[in-house]
Amino acid sequence: MSMQRTVVLVKPDGLQRGLIGEIMHRFERKGLKLIGLKMMRLTDELLDTWYAHHKEKSFFKDLKAFMTWTPIVAMVWEGQEAVSAVRKIVGVTKGYDAEAGSIRGDYAMSGSQNLIHASDEPDNANKEISLIFKGEELFEYENAEECLIYSDFERGK
Ligand code: CMP
Repeated sequence: MSMQRTVVLVKPDGLQRGLIGEIMHRFERKGLKLIGLKMMRLTDELLDTWYAHHKEKSFFKDLKAFMTWTPIVAMVWEGQEAVSAVRKIVGVTKGYDAEAGSIRGDYAMSGSQNLIHASDEPDNANKEISLIFKGEELFEYENAEECLIYSDFERGK
């Protein structure tokens, strides 16, 4: 078990549908710690790097157009095993397949307009953090509830 950071993007459909607060609330009440937050417009160049593994896919052009349609909201969440914990809360890619109770399961029906991006593994999370956030835009602080969320052992106390 390890302390991890992970990136969540609220995609343009999440912003348009007024779901930013709802999405953040799900991670907050889980006990994840918000350490970075910004609104920004993604560029074509950034998306070429971000989605390099989808470059040959038929939907790549549409994906980039979708992701640049409006600004997005980017967040970094921290916690024990945060990468997989966040992906479970988000649900599988296609909204119509996603489990009820997950964000996509509750709010999405599309396979492409699926509200959220969440890092798929810790190394990618670190790459994504460095593509979007400067060092000084990430914050270290003591969360007053930490002693309730984790045991002393888990906090290294
Ligand atoms: P995500 O899994 O966050 O990252 C890749 C994104 O590409 C995915 O969400 C969808 O938004 C999009 N995507 C995946 N498959 C398709 C598809 N078949 N058609 C259009 N968009 C897709």
